[in-house]
Amino acid sequence: MMMMIMAMKQYTFWILLILCISVASCSTIPSFRDPQIGINYGQYSSNLGGDTIIGINYGRYGSNLPPPESIPSLINSLSIKHIKTFDIDPRTTKSFSNTGITLSLCIPNNKIPSLSTNLTEAESIIRNNILPYHKTTLITTISVGNEVSLLPQFSTHLVSAMVNVHKSIKRYRLHKKIKVTTTHSLAILSKRFPPSTAKFHKSISESVLKPLIRFLQRTNSPLMVNVYPYLAYKQSYPSIPLDFALFNPNQRRRYKDPYSGIVYTNLFDVMLDSVDFAVKSLGLEKIPVVVSEIGWPSSGDFGEVAANMENARVFNQRLIEHLRRRVKKVPVYIFALFDEDQKTGAAVEKHWGLLYANGSRKYDLNLSPPI
Ligand SMILES: *[C@@H]1O[C@H](CO)[C@@H](O)[C@H](O)[C@H]1NC(C)=O
Ligand SMILES: *[C@@H]1O[C@H](CO)[C@@H](O)[C@H](O)[C@H]1NC(C)=O
Repeated sequence: MMMMIMAMKQYTFWILLILCISVASCSTIPSFRDPQIGINYGQYSSNLGGDTIIGINYGRYGSNLPPPESIPSLINSLSIKHIKTFDIDPRTTKSFSNTGITLSLCIPNNKIPSLSTNLTEAESIIRNNILPYHKTTLITTISVGNEVSLLPQFSTHLVSAMVNVHKSIKRYRLHKKIKVTTTHSLAILSKRFPPSTAKFHKSISESVLKPLIRFLQRTNSPLMVNVYPYLAYKQSYPSIPLDFALFNPNQRRRYKDPYSGIVYTNLFDVMLDSVDFAVKSLGLEKIPVVVSEIGWPSSGDFGEVAANMENARVFNQRLIEHLRRRVKKVPVYIFALFDEDQKTGAAVEKHWGLLYANGSRKYDLNLSPPI
């Protein structure tokens, strides 16, 4: 969430949205599940294919967090089977061995420049951090850096670094099991609304994202994006109705994209489609998307009006229900497992967890049946 600050200047469009809101009866809601933007997740990773996949982010900027060894039983108790970390720490990887829990790892940003030119270094990371553990821990993806695509000191080296990490994975014949990718903030979009007109920032679209997405397609890997309806809601306040961000099933607000004709009932689907359409605008084929972070904060400073316990619970619960119903399956990793009191920046950053640092639940969330 480093780059939570998203350039959202399309307020005018949201004012249009409110004008377009139709009080439609349920029977007349057109489907927004356009088969044109459907995605075949079966192609992607043996461990992450098929059904609804709900995982969780395991960030560790918290004091007094439980040790990695106690995480598997904690997330089992939440009925979660997929976890994503922000590092590539062997101790964590080892703690998930023989648990049936899949693990998504991340190579730190500062390694990107040297990885882009030094294949030996990429090989040594894989040899030391992956090779000893992959037989007992289900490692599904390695993210090369986190939200770096708009940071030139990293982004100019990003694709070469990913290529070298992939070469090393392939050298050890793990490329069918472990996908090499990277996570993006939605700030990579300069235009989001209507979703059918979404575009990536010019500064990175041809130079970074086009070769990056081609690499992902060539290696059958997913595009990972962090999707925060909370931030879109907050930054365009009061243009987006809270109910639209919170998947309220009783609200009758609809947003119809005037160009595609697709009708949306919630902000999440709007944001996700804007990614698909931006990819299309580069002249590229559809690519499977994984939502690498999504969540809602339970507290924040004065001004973070929607950051409260009840909204966090409602958002996450309805998100889970929405994902189960959704025809186009999209894997998501909820942000986050724990509140992280050592996060810097606004107070709201510290309150995204499902659990307190002591492991007790902040609110009830029903994640079963096991996912
Ligand atoms: C490349 O990486 C290896 C392994 O980390 C290191 O020993 C070597 O010095 C690096 N080469 C260069 C040119 O930096
Ligand atoms: C865990 O921490 C929270 C927040 O500080 C507190 O309300 C709760 O009582 C604690 N639970 C246990 C079992 O200590």
